[in-house]
Amino acid sequence: MKNLAIFASGSGSNAERIVEYFQNSATVNIKLFLTNNPEAGVIERAKRLEISIRVFDRQEFKSETIVDLLKENEIDWVILAGFLWLIPKNLVAAFPNKIVNIHPALLPKFGGKGMYGHFVHEAVIANKETESGITIHLVNEHYDEGAIIFQASFPVSSEDTPEDVARKGQVLEHEHFPRIIEQLITVK
Ligand code: GAR
Repeated sequence: MKNLAIFASGSGSNAERIVEYFQNSATVNIKLFLTNNPEAGVIERAKRLEISIRVFDRQEFKSETIVDLLKENEIDWVILAGFLWLIPKNLVAAFPNKIVNIHPALLPKFGGKGMYGHFVHEAVIANKETESGITIHLVNEHYDEGAIIFQASFPVSSEDTPEDVARKGQVLEHEHFPRIIEQLITVK
């Protein structure tokens, strides 16, 4: 059995999808949610799903506290599902090639610091892109730069709003993220 920890800063719809997907899995166990945001919607979801959730601050994140917590919980893989802080070096080093992020655009386009959530979709519209998509990638010490594992795209029309782009992206995220996590974990 592989234990997963899911980090989320916002609503947590991807985190919930992942929990649903692995509900009856014999190989993957969602052990813990973590958030940096005491107001995050993912906290309510964790309660409803009966998954324990740890809220932490920046100082704890930069110290050994979170790495220690993950080790105590025997976490094998770390999943970033809408988590907005840069992952510190010690956490990357503790889970080499075992941290996976989802990004709501076709990296390397529309990535980097400050490029998250609605900022990404607004930039896609402002740039008059004709397609956007999602990227699932391994995490290193830089925002959105680790090896790309999977991408899926969808068309963007000239009438689309950033909200339309967000909606299309979310459908793809919910469809693919749990499946790609499963593939990654079961081949390693
Ligand atoms: C997702 O669209 C995810 O791709 C994005 O945040 C959203 C979280 O939604 N992540 C980033 O922008 C990371 N740079 P959720 O809380 O409903 O899962």
